[in-house]
Amino acid sequence: MRKLLLAVAAAAIVLAPASVMAQSPIVIKFSHVVANDTPKGKGALKFKELAEKYTDGKVKVEVYPNSSLYKDKEEIEALQLGSVQMLAPSTAKFAPLGVKEFEALDLPWLFKDDETYSNAMKGTVGKWLFQKLEAKGITGLAYWDNGFHMVSSNRSLTKPTDFQGLKFRISGSKVADQYFRLVGSIPQIMAFSEVYQALQTGVVDGCENTASNYLTQKFFEVQKDITVSYHAHLQYAVIVNSKFWSGLPPDIRTQLEKAMADATEYTNSIARKENDDALAEIKKSGKTTLHFLTDADRKAWQEAMQPTYKWAKGRVGQEVLDLIAKELDVKMN
Ligand code: LMR
Repeated sequence: MRKLLLAVAAAAIVLAPASVMAQSPIVIKFSHVVANDTPKGKGALKFKELAEKYTDGKVKVEVYPNSSLYKDKEEIEALQLGSVQMLAPSTAKFAPLGVKEFEALDLPWLFKDDETYSNAMKGTVGKWLFQKLEAKGITGLAYWDNGFHMVSSNRSLTKPTDFQGLKFRISGSKVADQYFRLVGSIPQIMAFSEVYQALQTGVVDGCENTASNYLTQKFFEVQKDITVSYHAHLQYAVIVNSKFWSGLPPDIRTQLEKAMADATEYTNSIARKENDDALAEIKKSGKTTLHFLTDADRKAWQEAMQPTYKWAKGRVGQEVLDLIAKELDVKMN
C-alpha cells in the first residue's frame, strides 16, 4: 500500500509540471527605452491590453519601459537571442545589425509633415525595409510614429554656425552623424538612458529628440535652449524574434496580429497630440527657452545639411533612396 501511495505521489510530481504548463500563458516580454507616458510607451501598453484580451489571457505581455530590461544596443542582441520577444526601437538603431537602409528615413527635411511621413511608410518602402530584417532572425510587424526632432543645447541654435564646435548626442544613425558634422558640430552615439546625465554633466552639449522625449526624460531641465526645428523624423519599427513569432499557434498569432494592428492605429493617432502637449508643458515650465526657425533660418539649415543626401547614397544605397523618392514623389539629390 505504502509503495502504491509513493508511486501515485511520484506520478503526480512528474505530471504536475505538464498540466501547469498546459495552462500557463505564453509570455511576451516587450522591452523599450522610453517612458510609459509617450507615444511608444502608450502603444506598448495598448498592445498588452488588446493582446491579453483578444487571446483570452492565453498570452501575457510584460512591458519593460525606460531601459529597465535592456539599453539600446543590448535590446536588439537580446531579441536575436530570444531573451526578449518584442521591441520597438527607433529605426536609427539597426546599423549594428548590418542593416543600414533604415537610416534613409533620418535624412533631414525628408518628410514635409506627419501625413507625408505616414503615407510613405504605408507604401512599399516600409515593407521593403522589413524584408531586410528577416535574414537577421527579426520580423517587422508595424511602424509606430513619434514625430519630428527638435534640437537643444545651452545656447540658442537658429543659424547653422551656432552648432560650431558643440558635441551632440545622437542615437545611432550615421545620417544624423553626417548632418551634425556638416554644421560643424561633433556627434556622439550614446544610449538613450545615459543622455540626461551626459547633458547635465556636460559630457555632451546638446541633443536632438521629440518633445515627448524631452519632457519625460527631463532633458529640458538641463538644456537652456531648445529649437523647435523639426529637422528630421523619429519613428519606430515594432519587431519580434522570427522564430518565436512563427512558432506561435496560428490562432494565437492571428489574434496578436489584430492586437498589433489596433495598437498601431491607436499609437499613430495619438503621437502628434502627445508631442504638441509635451511642447506646451515644456514651455509652461519656464525652465528652457524655445526658439523657432524663420523661413530664412530653415533655408540656411537645409542648404548646410543638403550634402547629407549625396553622402547617404554610399551609406544606405541607391535602391532605398529611389523607393522613397518614388513614394514621396520628390527628386533626391
Ligand atoms: C533615442 O535614442 O533618442 C530614441 O530612439 C529614443 C526612443 O526610442 O524614442
